[in-house]
Amino acid sequence: MAETDHVERQPPHEELGERAERLWARAMTAVIVVLLGVLVFTSAHWGLHPPSRVETIDSTSLHKGGEFTESNLGTSIAPDGTTVVRVVAQQYAFVPSCVLVPSGVPVTMRLASAEVVHGFLIQGTNVNAMVVPGYVTTVRTTFQESGDRLMPCHEFCGVGHQAMWAHVRIVDAKQFPFEDAKAKPVSCG
Ligand code: CUA
Repeated sequence: MAETDHVERQPPHEELGERAERLWARAMTAVIVVLLGVLVFTSAHWGLHPPSRVETIDSTSLHKGGEFTESNLGTSIAPDGTTVVRVVAQQYAFVPSCVLVPSGVPVTMRLASAEVVHGFLIQGTNVNAMVVPGYVTTVRTTFQESGDRLMPCHEFCGVGHQAMWAHVRIVDAKQFPFEDAKAKPVSCG
């Protein structure tokens, strides 16, 4: 009779185990869905996105000419009307050290490093990226409020790292020298 009891008792046990497993799987699926939801929401809320393309550059010859030669640094208005900021990150400064941009206008920032890895963020905005030698860092943003903001380097880049920062001066679009910036790059300070 013990045999029969045993056989009879087994199915409920198995069911219980299956139910617990199903419950566990559902709970874990819910956790994953919640985490993914949080990720998607924060990304959308803060406008975060991974670098959209990879553009390489020879970091050792930035000064010799091309896009990041000194006379080409600063804010310029491209022939198609887009506002482009070009900055070189080097030990231990950003060039130009004062970046002038208009508010309420889409701005494309392009940065290149002259030697080691630097980083930059603009306080009070979602701009935050690394500048890796050999690559062009491109960030697109629209500055909403005018005012001065700090742009510190946030990747340790050597003994002068903590002294490496620039200013970003956001001015009303009416005050921004668009005509000058069409002819040659402008900056402030
Ligand atoms: Cu450049 Cu830290």
